[in-house]
Amino acid sequence: MARAHHGLLATALLLFTCLISLTAAAPSPGCGKGPTLRNGQTVNTNVNGKSRQYTLRLPDNYNQNNPYRLIFLWHQLGGSAQKIIQGENPNQGGVLPYYGLPPLDTTKSAIYVVPQGLNAGWANQNGEDVAFFDNMLQSVSDGLCIDTNLVFSTGFSYGGAMSFSLACSRPNKVRAVAVLSGGLLSGCAGGNDPVAYYAQHGTADSVLNVSGGRQLRDRFVRNNGCRALSSEPSPGSGGKSTRVDYQGCQAGKDVVWVVHGGDHNPSQKDPGASEPFAPRNTWEFFSRFN
Ligand SMILES: *[C@@H]1O[C@H](CO)[C@@H](O)[C@H](O)[C@H]1NC(C)=O
Repeated sequence: MARAHHGLLATALLLFTCLISLTAAAPSPGCGKGPTLRNGQTVNTNVNGKSRQYTLRLPDNYNQNNPYRLIFLWHQLGGSAQKIIQGENPNQGGVLPYYGLPPLDTTKSAIYVVPQGLNAGWANQNGEDVAFFDNMLQSVSDGLCIDTNLVFSTGFSYGGAMSFSLACSRPNKVRAVAVLSGGLLSGCAGGNDPVAYYAQHGTADSVLNVSGGRQLRDRFVRNNGCRALSSEPSPGSGGKSTRVDYQGCQAGKDVVWVVHGGDHNPSQKDPGASEPFAPRNTWEFFSRFN
């Protein structure tokens, strides 16, 4: 009897511990301390002998006791950190400032990191851009209060490729990614572990074709244990986006796929809509996790 009770107790305790580790915030070493990094600051660092830069956006009234989400925003080829910060002709195929996310963050839960690419891209030669990510994550964890369980990554085109690359190589650091019109341009070291995965792609993409986007997606459909679709979804009339929420995925390892009829465009809108759908879909996806 006593033994059975002990067994039950141990099981209950184990379940409880698992639950805690799944749901509790993981405050970084920078929590509870005065911040050593500022809103708007461009940080210079050195990675593998190369000088690298990134710029930070903190919420108003930053609170050093609040573990924030951390969102990495990678620019496209020929883009820049500055063009992500300021936005770039979103009505002509460019991005909204910070990929349109801060206005949706009504509780000001996120800190943003905006890195600058070497040669304005993310070729990730010998893993140097993943090493840059490690460097930034370490510095921000030490200098600011973040929840290390809530680290996210998004980007368009080359920036989507870099987010995919992190999902491959840093599955235990990155909780979810949003890949906007991405391709296999920044490599995929590892790539066998589950990571929550949102992607959108246009069937008329003239830069990185939709088959490439589907291939990236299917890696995480497999890794996350989701049920494959019996047929490939198509956009609706007028190129309207079609959204698929994959079923059967492991808990917390969701996959969402949005296919639209447009070209290579981070700011694709549905017919008649006034706003692009990427920001709302991305924010909805990232804010599932808390
Ligand atoms: C898509 O792009 C890839 C890489 O450029 C290329 O190898 C492939 O043939 C293209 N597929 C289609 C269907 O156009």
